[in-house]
Amino acid sequence: MRLLVPPGVFRPLSDTWMLADVLRVATLPPRASVLDLCSGSGALAVAAARRGAREVTAVDISRRAVLAVRLNARANRVRVRALRGDLFAPVGRLRFDLIVSNPPYVPGEREGVPSAGPERHWDAGADGRALLDRIVDQAPEHLRGGGSLMLVHSSICGIDATLERMRAAGLEPGVVVRRRGPLGPLMSARVHTLERRGLLGAGQREEEVAVLRGRAP
Ligand SMILES: C[S@@+](CC[C@H](N)C(=O)[O-])C[C@H]1O[C@@H](n2cnc3c(N)ncnc32)[C@H](O)[C@@H]1O
Repeated sequence: MRLLVPPGVFRPLSDTWMLADVLRVATLPPRASVLDLCSGSGALAVAAARRGAREVTAVDISRRAVLAVRLNARANRVRVRALRGDLFAPVGRLRFDLIVSNPPYVPGEREGVPSAGPERHWDAGADGRALLDRIVDQAPEHLRGGGSLMLVHSSICGIDATLERMRAAGLEPGVVVRRRGPLGPLMSARVHTLERRGLLGAGQREEEVAVLRGRAP
């Protein structure tokens, strides 16, 4: 994949590629429609289009990210509809066969999510769940029957919490892949805050990153 990441746009990290790898081997229905939420440069949207999805939509709150998605779709000779807005707002009542997301999930220094600046790419409230919970809660209204939500995130913000939230939202939860390793660069930069909040044990410098799936009935 050719990927251009202009200044001010999130540069994909290992968690992006972990979800992209899952997408590469995922079984998609014929004429599948895919939504990439919090798309950044569009790495996942382009991966879905290359995998053969018929219609791919990417949503990001950043204007620069939306432009990057359009550039990257063109560079890879695939079609992606890139929209700017807050999570599901730009897609109205549309439903999809697959929703993928690598959203901001790093516990922030403060309550709430930043409205601008680079931290908006990764900060997600005091527990890191501000966007994850909204995505899981709203996903069922945007999935076709049998469709799936696939999310990637760290154990620091609670893998079991996401699985439980999926169940409560009426999705059948599951772990597609999980990998233990050293803290990524964004979590590493926050170790003192994470320890203070009890999200990281004293001296703990590892996390698990997992791709989780919630399947609609
Ligand atoms: C961690 S980055 C991931 C980008 C891309 N999915 C990837 O894996 O490379 C999260 C992205 O979410 C976007 N974002 C933050 N808040 C958002 C919101 N409320 N609605 C849509 N996008 C949002 C940011 O602009 C950023 O591009």
